[in-house]
Amino acid sequence: MVDIKTAVEPLEEVSDEDLEDLCDAAESAILDGGGFGWLRPPPRAVLGRYFRGVVQVPERHLFVGRLERRIAAAAQLQEPPRNNEAQAHAAMLTTLFVAPWARGQGISARLVQAVEKRAVELGYLMLNLDLRATQEAAIQVYESLGFERWGTNPAYALVDNQFVEGYYYSKQLRKLPKAKKPKIKKKLAK
Ligand SMILES: CC(C)(COP(=O)(O)OP(=O)(O)OC[C@H]1O[C@@H](n2cnc3c(N)ncnc32)[C@H](O)[C@@H]1OP(=O)(O)O)[C@@H](O)C(=O)NCCC(=O)NCCS
Repeated sequence: MVDIKTAVEPLEEVSDEDLEDLCDAAESAILDGGGFGWLRPPPRAVLGRYFRGVVQVPERHLFVGRLERRIAAAAQLQEPPRNNEAQAHAAMLTTLFVAPWARGQGISARLVQAVEKRAVELGYLMLNLDLRATQEAAIQVYESLGFERWGTNPAYALVDNQFVEGYYYSKQLRKLPKAKKPKIKKKLAK
């Protein structure tokens, strides 16, 4: 049996070689029909600028999956905007993909777990995500890792002038801390 080396890790700086591989992997996932929002691959320069930008944004954390050291997959943790106090407990898992030639090695589950772990380390309570209802392999991955579907948007995406349903999933990462009971001063009995 051939021993294929896989690894999943955060990517904080992108070398030219990694960027080439990341763009190749993303392009092949988009062409295969599931490209984190893209229906057709954008020009290479746009994709390259996108990933170079991602690693610069403090609220975004990029994780990559490698096969024999070459990047073949990616996912991101997106923190909420700082001005949204009411939703400061919830982060998003976005843009998960594995290049078609690297699938079936369990890379996506490890990427999701890496994103989850970082979200826990950053103190988040919930991890949310959404995706097209047609992304069946991803649905299988998320549900097997404990994400619960709580909503459907019938007009989530527009593909070939047809609406495509989208699903919303969440996972609670830890228990809600117990609310402190307000201390009531007992009236001293006269
Ligand atoms: C989702 C994705 C990342 C999974 O890649 P992967 O790690 O190689 O996953 P696998 O091929 O090992 O499949 C994962 C699971 O889904 C199942 N699966 C694969 N293709 C499937 C399909 N078409 N329908 C239903 N289940 C499917 C597999 O059997 C496997 O389940 P198991 O672990 O119980 O055997 C990959 O298919 C992909 O990049 N898809 C396009 C992008 C996408 O949908 N991203 C998510 C939304 S942002």
